[in-house]
Amino acid sequence: MILVTGGAGYIGSHTAISLVELGHSIIIADDFSNSKPETVEVVQKITGKSVATHRIDVTDRDALERIFQNHQLEGVIHFAGYKAVGESVIDPIKYYKNNIISTLNIADLCVKYNVLKFVFSSSATVYGDNASPLTENMMLLPTTNPYGETKAMCERILHDISIANPQMQISLLRYFNPVGAHESGLIGENPNGIPNNLMPYITQVASGTLKKLSIFGNDYPTIDGTGVRDFIHVEDLAKGHVAALEHLSEGVHIHNLGTGKGTSVLQLVKAFEKVNQIEIPYEIVERRPGDLAKCYADVSKAERELGWKAEKTIEDMCRDAWNFEKNLKSKM
Ligand code: UFG
Repeated sequence: MILVTGGAGYIGSHTAISLVELGHSIIIADDFSNSKPETVEVVQKITGKSVATHRIDVTDRDALERIFQNHQLEGVIHFAGYKAVGESVIDPIKYYKNNIISTLNIADLCVKYNVLKFVFSSSATVYGDNASPLTENMMLLPTTNPYGETKAMCERILHDISIANPQMQISLLRYFNPVGAHESGLIGENPNGIPNNLMPYITQVASGTLKKLSIFGNDYPTIDGTGVRDFIHVEDLAKGHVAALEHLSEGVHIHNLGTGKGTSVLQLVKAFEKVNQIEIPYEIVERRPGDLAKCYADVSKAERELGWKAEKTIEDMCRDAWNFEKNLKSKM
């Protein structure tokens, strides 16, 4: 049995589906602070299996411990966490408290109950301004916001826990830019308020919810001057988690989950327009503080060690993201 914290969230729900489809039994723990219970119903509908779900905040150690007491857990995949970069600058205490305490609680209970496998949602943000392609052995550099710092700190904490508890099997997965949605169109990314991230912004411009996209800068040293990112389809990312879980062994194992290919903001907009036959009005505005020119992965380690590689294309990502947004709109 695998405990999936944040299993109703964007990446968590896709991973929950992959896990169940590949024969794992799971329990979800989610406080639904940035997700909806209906998403778990969709996970059950897609997989045809029922999934036990506990509405708890994983910073509540007692509530979390009851799950460890009542189930024979084999491992934990820990997604639950706050992830809005801008909000983390405004309210750092909220971010440090939530993201660090949840990770500490889980690790503590894993040690106490001899649950050896721990997969942690990290982020490419821990590379700071190292030059791309980014490799897992690079030194972590300061990030530009408290959210990023919580990811780097949790990585360090888990390293120390591994030294003290060498039987633990820890996977740190550094995500690049997850986009797209489940091919069914039933689950995807549905941020509250105005989206911070590029793809949800584009889909909301496409649906008419937002007027036009602001592209943050076109004077970067990149192919067309706009920022370059490694966009990865969320279904590929989900499968990467299952591969990481299934290949775990003692110690800490770090893997990039990306495609290894850089795509510029403008290239993504053009691909979206072409695949979906919709025009995306945009304007070029000032650079966004804290943004890097380029951020893309070296994915050879994941391919070599996990036998996993992203398969979906930018076109798949654009089509599936739009398909989900259309579905969402039609329900409103
Ligand atoms: N961008 C725009 N307009 C927008 C939104 C974004 O031009 O309205 C641009 C950004 O300037 C950047 C690119 O689109 O060049 C991607 O921006 P996102 O906000 O979608 O993603 P980031 O690469 O900034 O950040 C993402 C995650 C973080 C994570 C980081 C890791 O949101 O959680 O990747 O590299 F830390």
